[in-house]
Amino acid sequence: MKNLLHIYSLRKGPQNALWLQELAHREGTPLLLVNCQIIEKQYKKLAKALPGTDFFYAIKTLPHQSVINTLHSCGCGFDIASNGEIAMVESCGVPAARCIHTHPIKRPSDIERSLDYGCTTFVVDNPCELEKFTKYRDRASILIRVGFRSPDAVVDLARKYGCQPEDVFILLEKAAEAGISVKGLSFHVGSQAITPHAHVRAIEDSGDIIRESRRRGLFLLEILDIGGGFPAAYSDDVPDIEEFCAPLRDAISYLPENTRVIAEPGRYIAAPAVTAISSVIGKAMRGDSMWYYLDDGVYGSYSGRIYDSATYPIEVLKKDGTPRPSVLAGPTCDSIDVIAEDIMLPELEPGDLVIGHMMGAYTIATATDFNLFPRPKIVVMNEKQGSCRAQTHVLQRNGFTTKMARS
Ligand SMILES: Cc1ncc(COP(=O)(O)O)c(C=O)c1O
Repeated sequence: MKNLLHIYSLRKGPQNALWLQELAHREGTPLLLVNCQIIEKQYKKLAKALPGTDFFYAIKTLPHQSVINTLHSCGCGFDIASNGEIAMVESCGVPAARCIHTHPIKRPSDIERSLDYGCTTFVVDNPCELEKFTKYRDRASILIRVGFRSPDAVVDLARKYGCQPEDVFILLEKAAEAGISVKGLSFHVGSQAITPHAHVRAIEDSGDIIRESRRRGLFLLEILDIGGGFPAAYSDDVPDIEEFCAPLRDAISYLPENTRVIAEPGRYIAAPAVTAISSVIGKAMRGDSMWYYLDDGVYGSYSGRIYDSATYPIEVLKKDGTPRPSVLAGPTCDSIDVIAEDIMLPELEPGDLVIGHMMGAYTIATATDFNLFPRPKIVVMNEKQGSCRAQTHVLQRNGFTTKMARS
């Protein structure tokens, strides 16, 4: 039986229990609280851990204007993978030169939309996709995505995308014949990497490919995109980012000269920046456990329980009462809609609040409208003045700026 209580202290910073209660009372639940100060802090920690690397935030992780505006003002670029994501960065005034298009499979209309915007760097991992760029060879350049499998990552992405390392040269030869410019390589060893081993190995192997391409006089391959995968601290056993990146820095130092390293972080930046606030809407004793039904669940912002294999630190604001075996479930009629089981909670009543931490990555991004329950309202705090165009009104509290915006 797990006791998830008291993992995080709500007394830290402005997210104290009383303030969350006031906010929930004023705005209603379910709510997602996006703290832009944490977005900025995470970006800066990662940038410090990997000096010399240029970052392109993976918008898919938490596609919200406040996040884009915050990172844009920090000097971060953006990884876009769809026309919807292009529309979002465009609406935030991000110059196209600060974006790369990383989807390995694209429709001609996706390529054209990106080129019209001015984003000219694309990712390719197979001959069919490369062929699509023959007609755009004067306007586009390519990164070849290589698939390095990562058994250590919680989400292994190399199963679906990335060519075999030995097939890179087939693509490079084809590109050379077609007059398509290949600027470098990219990889993504999987999301939430638990150890740095896969990144290190992929950097080393990519270095070998770059060297060999130069030796054969094919392409200089000046860019190495090391993807995402940087781990977020969902639990205490996740390595600190500085510790995680130390072996990566070492591997990068052995890359061939004049290799520019870029990365596409998502989770590490977004996960800790969002707190979910939901309310108990009903309860029932079933077997030995008390089931609490919330107004948010796995079809809403807890969707990462299903799609992202994520377990979020959860706590309740009520601390009084004897803890008893409990289950937290979402509001839909589906039995899969369970957020946490076998946890010890004091007895809750309808209206009591449940707080989910580390809820920024792949949460609201993958939420659905199932049962037509409304998606959580997004509340933005600590965004620098004047940067969010989606705001509806601005509140001041203890010197912090809080903006309310519907997702
Ligand atoms: C191409 C690509 N880049 C970057 C990311 C972000 O990865 P992470 O959230 O692990 O940092 C993803 C995640 O799926 C991705 O598919």
